[in-house]
Amino acid sequence: MLNRRKFISGSALGSLGVLLGKDAHSSSINRVPDAPLVVSTWDAGMDANRAAWEVLKTGGRALDAVERGVMETENSLNCCVGLGGNPDRDGFVTLDACIMDEQGNCGSVAFLERVKHPIAVARRVMEKTPHVMLVGSGAQQFALAEGFKLESAELSEDAQRAYKTWLEKSNYAPPEKNIENNKQHGPFAPTRLDNGEWNHDTIGMIALDKSGNLSGSCTTSGAGFKMRGRVGDSPLIGSGLYVDNEVGACTATGQGEEIIRIAGSHLVVEFMRNGLRPEEACKKAIGRLVNMRKDKLGDVQICFLAIDRSGSFGAFALRPGFTYAVRSRHEEKIHKAKSWFDK
Ligand code: GLY
Repeated sequence: MLNRRKFISGSALGSLGVLLGKDAHSSSINRVPDAPLVVSTWDAGMDANRAAWEVLKTGGRALDAVERGVMETENSLNCCVGLGGNPDRDGFVTLDACIMDEQGNCGSVAFLERVKHPIAVARRVMEKTPHVMLVGSGAQQFALAEGFKLESAELSEDAQRAYKTWLEKSNYAPPEKNIENNKQHGPFAPTRLDNGEWNHDTIGMIALDKSGNLSGSCTTSGAGFKMRGRVGDSPLIGSGLYVDNEVGACTATGQGEEIIRIAGSHLVVEFMRNGLRPEEACKKAIGRLVNMRKDKLGDVQICFLAIDRSGSFGAFALRPGFTYAVRSRHEEKIHKAKSWFDK
């Protein structure tokens, strides 16, 4: 996770000869009238966008782009998406993912173990079953029947180290600073690590293709050291992801329990339907949660990233630190989202 979150310097991007956008702080609302366009959460979105762009630049479908893009992140062994992610409290990596296209077709898997590309399995659920969501051993059984390989259950080196550290305390207690928060939320709400990093991560991606169609994907290993069986927002259509081709699309990252409470991504799309621009819509959804939860939000982070069907994009977070990656014909860069609170 530390590697993922490292800020990608302007000079590194500049060397690609594609950094043409505004400065990071002033760019939360942008107009990109000409598709294609792809946006994704966090700095790791840069690599994922690059893979998606290979599909989009030749006129490919947004759905193919968002699947291909996040598979790049799922391949990575040093982050918190895919089998390289942190395990649950029993030492098993469990994966959640969903995908949605421009026609309202959607597919999802949750609590899936030992399969490298949950996003590809989610797409198969969408395309090959009459269902939207498969979970646990059923999702794995389906994946194997579809030809996906059963991978080793061994943790990545980073995850082994992190799990060993977590086991030293060997209890469900969160960091001391979160005790008050956890009295309210129960003991399963690990939020921020002692080093200040968030202990879970997600990649959400939205693309607008040359034909003007939107699709989105979202994939994660969820909260590190979560209770076994815990599922967050990422595989839930309407929470971690929502696409309405007539309006726009949104994806979420951060503490899934809070995002689920307000069906966050669907809410953002509905705010856009009512005329708000993407950043305003994301901000209003965060405001809804702040109003609903008041002092119960503790130390958590919650972030939304949205684009509308004309290619405007924007994001908003509960707290500072949320970054997202943008790739279009005009720019390839990291943006910093504005936030509700300043710390
Ligand atoms: N947003 C990812 C999770 O809570 O699992």
